[in-house]
Amino acid sequence: MTMDRSPLSSTTESFDEEREWALETRAVRCGIQRSAFNEHSEALYLTSSYVFEDAQQAADRFTNREPGMIYSRFTNPTVTAFQDRLAALEGGEVCLATASGMSAILTTLMGLLKAGDHVVASQSLFGSSIQLLTGVLARFGVTTTFVSLSDGSAWQQAIRPETRLFFVETPANPTMELADLTCLSEIAHAHGLLLVVDNCFCTPILQRPLEWGADLVVHSATKYLDGQGRVLGGAIVGSRTLVMDSPIYQFLRTAGPTMSPFNAWVCLKGMETLAIRMEAQCARALEMAEWLERQSSVVRVLYPGLPSHPQHALAMAQQGGSGGAVVTFEVAGGQAAAWRVIDGLHMISVTGNLGDTKSTLTHPATTTHGRLTDEARQAAGITPGMLRLSVGLEALTDLQCDMARGLLTPP
Ligand SMILES: Cc1ncc(COP(=O)(O)O)c(C=O)c1O
Repeated sequence: MTMDRSPLSSTTESFDEEREWALETRAVRCGIQRSAFNEHSEALYLTSSYVFEDAQQAADRFTNREPGMIYSRFTNPTVTAFQDRLAALEGGEVCLATASGMSAILTTLMGLLKAGDHVVASQSLFGSSIQLLTGVLARFGVTTTFVSLSDGSAWQQAIRPETRLFFVETPANPTMELADLTCLSEIAHAHGLLLVVDNCFCTPILQRPLEWGADLVVHSATKYLDGQGRVLGGAIVGSRTLVMDSPIYQFLRTAGPTMSPFNAWVCLKGMETLAIRMEAQCARALEMAEWLERQSSVVRVLYPGLPSHPQHALAMAQQGGSGGAVVTFEVAGGQAAAWRVIDGLHMISVTGNLGDTKSTLTHPATTTHGRLTDEARQAAGITPGMLRLSVGLEALTDLQCDMARGLLTPP
C-alpha cells in the first residue's frame, strides 16, 4: 500500500483496490510510511524537532499552510504510524495518541467540556477516571452524575440542559459490567450528546464501539495494545471533526500530554500480535472463569463469557462472541481472604497492570480503587473480597496450579 499523504494526518486506509483488509492484516500493515531507506520494519524517529528548508517553510508549517512535521509534542512520524494503525483497527477516521490512558481521557474531556458543563458517567469505572471527574474536573466547574452502567433509564433521567456527554467503560474495570452501546448512543444522540467509550478491556479485536454508535473511543495503550507491560500510552479515536479539527487536538498540541515516539513504536509493534494474543488470552480466560466457578472458596465469578453473567447475551453480540481476557471473582472472607489468595501465589504477578502476556492478580479495593471514598467504591461495585485476574499466555495447568495455591492458603 502506498502512503502518499501528509504525515500530519492520520488515515484509516485499510484496503487494497478490491477489498477491505481484515483486522489481522490491518494490525500488521496499516500505518507504514517508509523513509528514503525503504526499511521493512517500522522506523523509530527519536527526534524532538524537524529541520525546515527556510524561514518561509517554518512559518508555513507552524500555521498549517504546509503539511509536515514541526515538533514532536504534536507531530512525529512514529506516533503517526501508531495513530494510523489504531484508527484502521477501530474503524475511525483519525486517532490522536497520548502519553497514557488517563491523558487520553483528560485530553478528551478538556477538549469537549468547559466550566458549567455536566457529564453523565458510569458508576463502574477505573478508579483514576472517577478521580479525574470528581477530584480534578470538578475544581474547574464540571459536574458529573454517576449512574448504573446497565440501567438505560438512569442515563436518560440524569440528563440536564448542561449535559454534554456520556462516559463509559465496557466491560467496566473490574466489575465486568457491560454497557449496551446501541442503547446508550441512541439516548445520547436523541439529546445531542456525545458517547465516549473506554475500549481498553476489549480492544478493537473484540469490540469496535464506533460501529455501535459511539462518537469517540479512548484507550489505555498500556494494556493490550502494547501487550507486554513495557510502556505507557493512550489514544483517542473518532471523526476528524471531533478529534483533529477541534479543541481536543488543540489541547494536546498546546498542553503536551503526548505519546513518546519510543512508546508509539513499542505499541505499534505490539499491535502486530494483538489479534492472536487476544484470541489465546481470551480462550484461557474462559477456561479460568469456568475453573474458578468450581472452586469452593470462590463465591462469585464475574466474566461476560460465562452463561452465568447477567449480560452474557449482550457480551456475545457486542464483543464478537468473547468475554475478554479479564476475570473478576470474589472470595468468601472479605479483604483478609482476598489478600491471602494474593500472598499465596508463586507465579502470577501481583501488580496493578492488566493486558500483559504475564497473568496478573490485583485487589482493586486497596489498589486501583483504593483512593476512592468507601461510598464511591461501593457505588463502583468493588467489594473487599474481589480480585481481578488478567489472564496472560502461561499454560492453563500452571495458572490453575498457582491460583489453587493462593485459594488454599490457610488463614
Ligand atoms: C479501563 C481503564 N481505562 C484507563 C486506564 C488508565 O490507563 P493508563 O494507566 O495508561 O493511564 C486504565 C488503567 O488501568 C484502565 O483500566
